[in-house]
Amino acid sequence: MIAARIVIAGALMVTGWAAMAKPAAAPTQPSPQDLVLARQAGMTMAASTLNLLRGASTNGTPLKNLAFPASGLAKWADAAPALFAESTRGVPSRALPAVWTNKADFAIKAKAFSDSTKALVAAARADDKAAFDAALASTAASCKGCHDSYQAPPAPPAKAG
Ligand code: HEC
Repeated sequence: MIAARIVIAGALMVTGWAAMAKPAAAPTQPSPQDLVLARQAGMTMAASTLNLLRGASTNGTPLKNLAFPASGLAKWADAAPALFAESTRGVPSRALPAVWTNKADFAIKAKAFSDSTKALVAAARADDKAAFDAALASTAASCKGCHDSYQAPPAPPAKAG
């Protein structure tokens, strides 16, 4: 009986300790700054992936090997619009105010990106070189099509002296 009580007391101490040692709960919502950082990171990786796909296609890499990076680009095309949440409007970035004042057109540009990257994945899986190169061109055009209206040009380099 005494032994049992000691075991129970020990168990209570252990669970009590575990509760005290638990780290503070992680924030449940990403901050607007987190969203801006995530979209800039995704865009940067999209540019790297597009370059990789172009180079690989030119070098004659088997297209089936390119389905994986192409599928990442296609997922990014579907994920990116949500990172331009209304809450990020005031955060310094290169997104132009038109992203939020012209939402319907921004969504059309995002859809063109999504459609082109899906065609890229399908062409890679089908090992169809002509379709793959056409989808690469339409994907690159979809990047530019959106940037022309919704991305501010890069800041000029700081003047020396
Ligand atoms: C639907 C619109 C849209 C599409 C499509 C789009 N972008 Fe962007 N992109 C933007 C906007 C807006 C910004 C500015 C975001 C910011 O500064 O927070 C941006 C930023 C970038 C940046 C700069 C990231 C940084 O670190 O500041 C790169 C690089 C980029 N895009 C590459 C691409 C490439 C490559 C594609 C196509 C494969 C693409 N984008 C497709 C809207 C788009």
